[in-house]
Amino acid sequence: MKEVIKTLKPYVPEASLEEVKKKYNLSRLVRLSANENPYGTSQAVYKAVEAVIRQGGNYYPDGNASALRKELAAFYKQPEDRLVIGTGLDELIALICRVFLQSGDEVLVMDPAFSEYAFNSEIEGASIKKVPVNKDTGHIDVNEIIKAVTDKTKLLWICNPNNPTGVYESKACITNLMAQLPSDVIVLMDEAYLEFTCQEEAPSALPLLDRYDNLIVMKTFSKAYGLAAYRVGFVAASVKLANYMQTVRLPYNVNTISQVAAQAALGDQAFLHKVVKANDEERRKWLAFLSKVAIDHYDSQSNFIYMRFEEAEELADYLLQHGYQVRRGLQPHWLRITIGKADDNQAIQGYIKEFLGE
Ligand SMILES: Cc1ncc(COP(=O)(O)O)c(C=O)c1O
Repeated sequence: MKEVIKTLKPYVPEASLEEVKKKYNLSRLVRLSANENPYGTSQAVYKAVEAVIRQGGNYYPDGNASALRKELAAFYKQPEDRLVIGTGLDELIALICRVFLQSGDEVLVMDPAFSEYAFNSEIEGASIKKVPVNKDTGHIDVNEIIKAVTDKTKLLWICNPNNPTGVYESKACITNLMAQLPSDVIVLMDEAYLEFTCQEEAPSALPLLDRYDNLIVMKTFSKAYGLAAYRVGFVAASVKLANYMQTVRLPYNVNTISQVAAQAALGDQAFLHKVVKANDEERRKWLAFLSKVAIDHYDSQSNFIYMRFEEAEELADYLLQHGYQVRRGLQPHWLRITIGKADDNQAIQGYIKEFLGE
C-alpha cells in the first residue's frame, strides 16, 4: 500500500443532523458549518427528479453526461470537450491529483485553504508547500506564490473566493498571477463559491481558459445551486488536460438522478438569483454586526464568514447549545459560520451578544 496513507488523518464529514440533535438534546438544529444552501433546492429539481425516478434504475447512466454537458457548455460558453463532470468537486480534486501528480512532486496551497487539496495531493506522494495569505486582509500574495515555485512544482491550488476566509481575488489579481507563473505549473481555480460574489460583474476565471492551457476552473452545484446531496461538480480545462482526466475517471461516475437534477438547477436561474441576493443582504448585515461588536473577521464575498475569537471553542459550544452548529477546528481561535436565513442570523447574533455580555 501507499505508506503515506498510514500517516494521514481522514476528512471527518459532518455528523447527521439527527445525530447531533440527539447528542445535545436539541429540538431544532441549524447546521451552519458546511456552507450548505439554507434556501433549499429549486422546485424545478423536485419535478425533474420525480420524473426520472419513475423511469426505473436498470440502465447505467449516460457515461458522458451528454445532456448536462451540452447545457453546461452553452451556459458557460465553453466547448463541450473542455468539460469533465464528476460527483462533486471532491471527486474531481481526487481525480486531478491522481492524474497530474507523482511521488516527489511539489504542490502549492494557500494557508488557510480547503483541506482536501493537500490531503489528496499527499496521497499521490506529493509534498505540500503552504503559502500564507495576508494575515490582515486574507488576500493571496502573488509575489510569495511566485517565489515558492520550484522546478518540482506541479500544481497550484487557488480557491476564489477562498474557503475558509471567504475572501475574493479580483480578476486583475488572477490575471497577474497567471501571467507570472511558469506554464508547466497547473493552476486549479476552485470557484465553488463564486456565484455568491457580488464585487465584480463577471468574476469567473473561465475566459482565461482561452489564453492559458495550464488553467483548470472548478465549479460545483453543491453551494449556490443547493444540490449538495446530489453530488455534481465539473471542471473546465484545455482539451488536452480534460482528455487526460476523462481517460482516468470512472465510466459512470455521475448517476442519472444527479445529472437530471443538475440540468434542472442550471435551468432555474431565477432560484439562483434569489439565493445570491438573499445571501448578499444577509452577508452585509453579518459584516456590519461583526464590525460593531469588534470581532475580527475577513471581508467575505461568499456564503460564510471567517471570524477570530479568543474563546472560539466556548462560543461554538454556546451556539450549539442554542441549536446552531458552526465550523470550528480549522485554525485555533477561528470560527467559520455559514450565512443562514435572516431569522437565524438575527438569533445567532443575539446569542453572540449574550455571550459577550452585551
Ligand atoms: C472550496 C471547496 N471546494 C470544493 C468543495 C467540495 O464540493 P462538492 O460538494 O462539489 O464536492 C467544497 C465543499 O465544501 C469546498 O468548500
